[in-house]
Amino acid sequence: MRRLSLPLLCLSSALIVWRPGPTAGESSVFLPAPQNITIESRNFVNVLRWSPVKGVNGTVSYHVEQRVVSSEHWEEVNCTNISKPECNFDHGMEVSRNLLRVRAEQGGLKSNWSQVGPFQAKTDTILGPPWGINVTSEANTLTLSFRSPLEHTKYDSDLVYIIHQWDESLSGNISSETKNTAKKFKNLKEATQYCFQVQAMFENIKGEISGPHCNKTATTERTRNIYIAAIFGVLMFTILATFLCLCVIQKYKSTIKYFWQPRLRIPSHYEEDLQNAQVVAEYTFWNCAEEHWDIVSVISNTSQNQTLRDSFASGNQVDVSNLNEHR
Ligand SMILES: *[C@@H]1O[C@H](CO)[C@@H](O)[C@H](O)[C@H]1NC(C)=O
Ligand SMILES: *[C@@H]1O[C@H](CO)[C@@H](O)[C@H](O)[C@H]1NC(C)=O
Ligand SMILES: *[C@@H]1O[C@H](CO)[C@@H](O)[C@H](O)[C@H]1NC(C)=O
Ligand SMILES: *[C@@H]1O[C@H](CO)[C@@H](O)[C@H](O)[C@H]1NC(C)=O
Ligand SMILES: *[C@@H]1O[C@H](CO)[C@@H](O)[C@H](O)[C@H]1NC(C)=O
Ligand SMILES: *[C@@H]1O[C@H](CO)[C@@H](O)[C@H](O)[C@H]1NC(C)=O
Ligand SMILES: *[C@@H]1O[C@H](CO)[C@@H](O)[C@H](O)[C@H]1NC(C)=O
Ligand SMILES: *[C@@H]1O[C@H](CO)[C@@H](O)[C@H](O)[C@H]1NC(C)=O
Repeated sequence: MRRLSLPLLCLSSALIVWRPGPTAGESSVFLPAPQNITIESRNFVNVLRWSPVKGVNGTVSYHVEQRVVSSEHWEEVNCTNISKPECNFDHGMEVSRNLLRVRAEQGGLKSNWSQVGPFQAKTDTILGPPWGINVTSEANTLTLSFRSPLEHTKYDSDLVYIIHQWDESLSGNISSETKNTAKKFKNLKEATQYCFQVQAMFENIKGEISGPHCNKTATTERTRNIYIAAIFGVLMFTILATFLCLCVIQKYKSTIKYFWQPRLRIPSHYEEDLQNAQVVAEYTFWNCAEEHWDIVSVISNTSQNQTLRDSFASGNQVDVSNLNEHR
């Protein structure tokens, strides 16, 4: 009497279906084939992966084989430490289209093969973006440098790089190609930020694009000199203009004073008083000895009837007879 259940063949039956019978020794076990088998290939590094298979007792190991599509002969793939459900088959299979298969093994048990493919590294690999990107600035020149995603592989020299470039005005987006991992951009706009994105291309297959890397151009020595000259010129002009202004002011002092001084206006209440004023006295002294005029006007307000007379020092009067005696 068999007490074993039928093995489930559906996809989800990754587990071993194994029920011990009541009578010892009577058992039928099998390993399911690895599931979810995929190839991940990036920058010509190829990794075959699958979901782990659960063994009956302890761990299972895996066996990987490959063959060229056109061939009937399966070959071993040299995977190291294959108790992990992945096989790094590294660089290889670039030119030919290949099939890969894997099975689980445990003791004498062997699962069915799981197959994947065809795979060709040259067309199926994903090219990562260039890395280690630097943009250095020197005057109006920017130097972009980066590292190849295929460094240390034989395909490194086959790469072409597409450089996307734009400045802060976002007006133009220029693309250029180079085979080198460094490029100088000369005669750029001065004091302007430029951004770059780099993308590797292998036989017309474009790789992933890098993030933007930016730097700003400086002003060239020539522009700086022009600026300095301009500033110096303006300064000199200002000094000269100021000097000329001062000269003109000095020369036409009186005219300027006339125009600039506010017209003297006598306040109205004083004006009234002045209309009533009389010239009270005007004395003229002729001093022979000192050859000097003294004109004195004394104004008196008649309303106050206060008259100033003869209030001048008589010292100004010179005895003429004395002068005559000296001669
Ligand atoms: C296979 O992958 C799918 C989705 O990633 C997952 O749901 C499923 O459990 C996997 N199968 C196994 C046997 O691990
Ligand atoms: C599992 O392990 C037990 C004891 O270690 C052993 O008797 C049995 O045969 C093993 N089964 C398989 C499938 O290897
Ligand atoms: C696997 O690799 C080892 C050492 O790396 C080497 O000796 C062996 O020949 C390789 N086997 C195959 C089938 O490539
Ligand atoms: C293989 O992998 C196992 C577990 O991942 C580890 O314990 C063992 O040291 C590895 N062996 C080699 C040769 O890499
Ligand atoms: C293994 O493959 C054979 C033939 O392709 C098939 O009949 C059998 O059911 C498979 N076994 C499992 C466990 O998938
Ligand atoms: C821009 O260039 C200058 C001069 O080459 C450099 O020192 C600076 O690190 C760069 N800035 C960036 C963000 O790369
Ligand atoms: C970019 O600059 C960093 C730090 O200075 C340096 O380590 C790296 O090698 C440079 N990258 C390139 C492509 O020169
Ligand atoms: C220029 O092209 C790059 C890459 O396609 C893109 O990321 C960037 O936004 C573009 N810039 C402008 C201004 O169109």
